[in-house]
Amino acid sequence: DNPSLWGGRFSEATDSFVQRFTASVSFDQRMAEQDIRGSLAHARMLTDAGILSAEEYQAIEDGLAIVQAEITSGDFPWSIEREDVHMNIEARLTALIGDAGKKLHTGRSRNDQVATDIRLYLRDAIDAISKELTRLQKGLVSLAETHAATVMPGFTHLQGAQPVTFGHHMLAWNEMLERDYSRFGDCRDRMNQCPLGAAALAGTTFPIDREQTASALGFTQPTRNSLDSVSDRDFAIEFTAASALILTHLSRMSEELVLWTSAQFQFVELPDRFCTGSSIMPQKKNPDVPELVRGKTGRVNGHLVALLTLMKSQPLAYNKDNQEDKEPLFDCIDTVLDCLRAFADMVPHIVPRKERLRDAAKAGFATATDLADYLVRKGLPFRDAHEVVGKAVAEGVRLERDLSDMPLATLQSFSALIESDVFEVLTVEGSVAARDHLGGTAPNQVTAAARHAGKRLESR
Ligand code: ARG
Repeated sequence: DNPSLWGGRFSEATDSFVQRFTASVSFDQRMAEQDIRGSLAHARMLTDAGILSAEEYQAIEDGLAIVQAEITSGDFPWSIEREDVHMNIEARLTALIGDAGKKLHTGRSRNDQVATDIRLYLRDAIDAISKELTRLQKGLVSLAETHAATVMPGFTHLQGAQPVTFGHHMLAWNEMLERDYSRFGDCRDRMNQCPLGAAALAGTTFPIDREQTASALGFTQPTRNSLDSVSDRDFAIEFTAASALILTHLSRMSEELVLWTSAQFQFVELPDRFCTGSSIMPQKKNPDVPELVRGKTGRVNGHLVALLTLMKSQPLAYNKDNQEDKEPLFDCIDTVLDCLRAFADMVPHIVPRKERLRDAAKAGFATATDLADYLVRKGLPFRDAHEVVGKAVAEGVRLERDLSDMPLATLQSFSALIESDVFEVLTVEGSVAARDHLGGTAPNQVTAAARHAGKRLESR
């Protein structure tokens, strides 16, 4: 008996450290189910092509069912001597069914096998992510509808800018996530081609039917070039990039929630069950969930850089470097799913503090632009109106008094065009209601936008 896993070419067993160093089974066993699906499709195709007998196919199918059951129950004898998930399963199959197991690898290599498995795995992951993302978006949209008329401050430079509605803000978050959804969808479409048949790199001498395996596994078509099929992991990088973007979006939302829940802002209330306390300060209620989501963005960004760097200097075709793609990918999937779950569970229970938001919206001369627009409607060119209102604001800063709280006579000292109807435009409600066009913050626009968004989500 040959001492090596690699057969006749080798005259001694692999060094035990090298064995551990090169093994991936501890992490790639996560793809076992996908590996078995791929093997079944390959075996069926080999049988239809007359390469395996019907009896051999049956033995493989029955054997793989046992293997799957052992894996599910935790009884599968994983071993680093078999290096990776692919060889562990094949070896166990052969132990169970004998020679037919040894024939399964005909016309196949681990190179096209692993490229297939990762695609199947990521496809499943994208489907799970899309589902969770949709749940989160539905929460945002319904919060937006409920608070279509709840006025809050809108910021630029984190300085009060113009009043907006809370619903409008929620729908802004939703738009970010809507693009993430479509990004994952694009990524799924592009990766949905089947590498099986590329074998090690050049294809195989057997009369295989690549269309058959591709369609059996739900791919839209076989990949077009065998070298490329086993080599590139751009689809994994793309997945990680989409993950980094969605985490970036969740991180921005987190940052706002952290600010908004502080005693200094007091814009929203989060339920106690999504917060934690302090071991020393009895008053504390910390927004740990959004903080952690913000923090986890760092690891996903790191995974993106890791995969880009992994790929950048690899010559065609397969290189062992690619085994390093899995841990970042799996951690990406786990992190994205956990963060989405945290947000989807939490978002419907965010409670905006209406009074406080309205007061905050008034601060900082938030309706100054409304006064300028008012003067423009009375005939003043916008630049002149800007100048006039700037002077009024400077006076307001000196008096510590908002424009809406100034007597009419004071306002008229800045422009004779100002009349008593000015006070309607200086309220925060008047300000938001006036931005009444597609994409604007007026409550009726927000209500309509929320309904449209809700319909789009229903039709996914
Ligand atoms: N465990 C390997 C990986 O993850 C499978 C492919 C191995 N192929 C090879 N020629 N060594 O990439």
